[in-house]
Amino acid sequence: MNIILCGFMGSGKTTIGKALSKRLNMRFIDLDDYIVEKRKMDIQYIFKMYGEENFRKSETQAAKNISKMDNCIISLGGGTVINQKNVEILKTNGVIVFLNISANEVYKRLKHNNSRPLLQTNDKLTKIKEMLSSRMPYYQKAADFTVNADNCTPAEATKKVLEILNNNKII
Ligand code: S3P
Repeated sequence: MNIILCGFMGSGKTTIGKALSKRLNMRFIDLDDYIVEKRKMDIQYIFKMYGEENFRKSETQAAKNISKMDNCIISLGGGTVINQKNVEILKTNGVIVFLNISANEVYKRLKHNNSRPLLQTNDKLTKIKEMLSSRMPYYQKAADFTVNADNCTPAEATKKVLEILNNNKII
């Protein structure tokens, strides 16, 4: 069984995933990093040269490959669970935890970070608000468990995830 983290860009999926992996002694896999390694290109380059649709195909292939593995902590990309097919693939062998944070918190964390191809805009806060509200139903639908990670340090959010997994006898 894998433990899978979903949520918007900046919600802490990677940081918390690494912390969980250490704590639970489970292998950590970041879906974006997996794609970068496989294609030997960074995410920005894939978006720029091949477009989003092409990236999404790699994302589904990566989800397929990773879901064959067991006992891993997996952090998804912010858009992975928008495709129901990816959710189905990942759920065959894992539980999904949604790290929920507000648009203002995302903005606070990412305002000086230009690594996200989908947030390359002058009005980042508006873009984040629009994307987060349109994606929220997908995150909620995908989630087996939801953790409120707003205003949380990575250590606090990690503790909350561990608690919820423990209370539900997943770990
Ligand atoms: C995306 C989020 C990114 C990355 C790509 C697309 C999205 O991952 O997969 O830029 O659609 O939200 P992070 O959530 O790890 O930033």
